[in-house]
Amino acid sequence: MRREGLIHLRRVLPVLMIATLAGGAAEKSTFTDIEHWRKAFARPDHTPEPSDNLTTPEKVKLGAALFEDTRLSGTGNISCSSCHQADLSFSDGVDRHTGLDGNPLDRRTPPLWNMAWGLSWFWDGRAATIEAQAAGPIENQREMAGNLEHAIKTLGSDPLMQKSFATAFPEDPAVTRANLMKAIAAFERTLVSPETRFDQWVKGDDKALDADELAGFSLFIGKAGCVSCHQGWRFTDEAFHDIGLPSGDRGRGPILGVSAADHAFKTPSLRERVWTAPYMHDGSLATFEDVVDHYAQGIVKRPTLSADLPQRIDLSEKERAQLVAFLNTLSSEDPPRPASLPPKTMVWGAPAQAVSTTIVSQRDRRFSPGAILLKLGEALRILNDDTRTHNVRVDSANMSFNSDGQNPGDTVTLGFDQPGHYDIICGIHPEMRLSVDVASATAR
Ligand code: HEC
Ligand code: HEC
Repeated sequence: MRREGLIHLRRVLPVLMIATLAGGAAEKSTFTDIEHWRKAFARPDHTPEPSDNLTTPEKVKLGAALFEDTRLSGTGNISCSSCHQADLSFSDGVDRHTGLDGNPLDRRTPPLWNMAWGLSWFWDGRAATIEAQAAGPIENQREMAGNLEHAIKTLGSDPLMQKSFATAFPEDPAVTRANLMKAIAAFERTLVSPETRFDQWVKGDDKALDADELAGFSLFIGKAGCVSCHQGWRFTDEAFHDIGLPSGDRGRGPILGVSAADHAFKTPSLRERVWTAPYMHDGSLATFEDVVDHYAQGIVKRPTLSADLPQRIDLSEKERAQLVAFLNTLSSEDPPRPASLPPKTMVWGAPAQAVSTTIVSQRDRRFSPGAILLKLGEALRILNDDTRTHNVRVDSANMSFNSDGQNPGDTVTLGFDQPGHYDIICGIHPEMRLSVDVASATAR
């Protein structure tokens, strides 16, 4: 009974709220209003690609490898993924990454989801194509301190790279600057954020969001005014706005030579932002709560403030919490890992010296075999050949290990340097148990 009542409430709530929102237009069919917002936030059915750089599996594979290749940096130890870390939705968890000169970079590392739909790149939009963007960090003396001509020579002398470039670019089979940019860009276009609960709601599932989340959405498109800039399924208008952060960075202004655009930055997408704190171009706001407080009461008044920014928003504590609850629905439940990235290999202990390695499967939420007897010096490899994300954990006197999300394809390799009994479980599916006994090397 109670459950039915709740579901019923969830069905009518959006109708009520949107009717309130629409204000004067309340006599319009409220059903149409919901359909209007569902359409406004519907995801596209394909990823755009430029005709001069079509996305092919060969280019994507090469681009994914280059994204992790430290040979692109002048110092030989920095890759794109040093800052754009897959586990953090391609950001880095800090307000501003420390540059090669030991000082923080000017701006925060932005996440890289849904770049394919962009109109300009960087916080100030100074790159006009994704292809052109990649040269920026490679040659920036504080980021990768690389020299593209030099990097091209180094990669060009690697037979494996020669082969990968030739396969990816059959019409122009050479390791060139243009092909390098194209491959990285093709890989970046595959970074599409997956559907979340909000998308289920957009597709018509009224129960996908709870009452607070829907109330938050209603504020987002209503009195809080967020939708003026955070529009469409990616939640950005791709335009530049000054939202009154105290930072002295002039953003878009100097790029255009137009002082009216000072302090304006590109509206960021809000997809998968649960994983990408801290926020804003300078990483100055630590949480969604801080962001909402900024809009409600922290705006620095300046002549350049965006005309799309509400002058004054009154939000109660409850309403602020509802907005945050809504923002959370735009992120996956676990950090998503794009299929175009090579599988992750995690290593713990000292398995490199192991004389032999036993492989355990995780198919259908089961460690198989479920019990293993190893000798000291032998290693164990746990392969996620399941369709689900797992979380391998060992908590014993001699070993404490946590794999974080272990996605399909990822492997965890454990080396044991103490004899004894080890219980291994999956934190997400605790019914999965693997019992490991390690006998001392001489024991038979
Ligand atoms: C040292 C850290 C660092 C490294 C290494 C790095 N980036 Fe970035 N990346 C940043 C920062 C910081 C920004 C924002 C700079 C700005 O807007 O002025 C950025 C911006 C970007 C953007 C623009 C995103 C947007 O929303 O407009 C893309 C795309 C990107 N990087 C891709 C790459 C690629 C590809 C590589 C490797 C070739 C790379 N980055 C290497 C820190 C890094
Ligand atoms: C006038 C346009 C505009 C409005 C209105 C607006 N935003 Fe923003 N939003 C931006 C811009 C621009 C940034 C980046 C600003 C910067 O870094 O200097 C941003 C940043 C954010 C961020 C941080 C994202 C990240 O990855 O750093 C969040 C979260 C956010 N806004 C949520 C909201 C919410 C919630 C509302 C409504 C209360 C709202 N925004 C209203 C333009 C807007």
